[in-house]
Amino acid sequence: MMHKISKLVLSGVLLCGFIGVAQAESTREDYAIKFRKSGFMMMTWYMGPMGRMAKGDMPFDKALFARNAETLAFLSKLPKDGFIPGSGSGDTKAKAEVWSQADKFKAANDAMETETAKLAELAKGGNLDALKEQLGKVQKTCKSCHEEFKTKAAQ
Ligand code: HEC
Repeated sequence: MMHKISKLVLSGVLLCGFIGVAQAESTREDYAIKFRKSGFMMMTWYMGPMGRMAKGDMPFDKALFARNAETLAFLSKLPKDGFIPGSGSGDTKAKAEVWSQADKFKAANDAMETETAKLAELAKGGNLDALKEQLGKVQKTCKSCHEEFKTKAAQ
């Protein structure tokens, strides 16, 4: 009995120690990096089926396209919140220009939000040709921001 209790206490102590270490190592900046990357990953996930429908690799499903477009428009508002000051180093590909050219970075975010909102609006109509064109405009906003503000390697 005694043995069991002391084992329990010991594992409790070890667990607390482990959590303590994990907290000490993960700063608010680290969480911010994980948060924004997760946001971009979620956006990519919802873009997938729309891209496949646009290419004809998947039958056009108006309701699914509309749901994904709406979700994408909402998600596009999130990653910017994760670019907090001081989060330019670590497991990130964000360039220093994100902070040194904050106005330009904001404009690039605004462009993405505008184009994804237009896509969501158009998706209610369900005209695939119009959606293809607008999806292309959305993809351009991703690409042009990446060219300016994202490196190929983690810094
Ligand atoms: C305003 C600028 C901007 C726009 C617009 C933008 N991105 Fe990014 N994206 C970034 C930056 C900066 C990073 C690097 C983030 C990091 O590593 O901290 C990134 C990273 C990513 C990543 C890698 C995430 C990871 O886990 O490393 C993906 C995927 C991605 N973006 C997809 C997209 C898609 C899809 C769009 C368009 C719908 C988009 N991005 C629009 C700036 C942008």
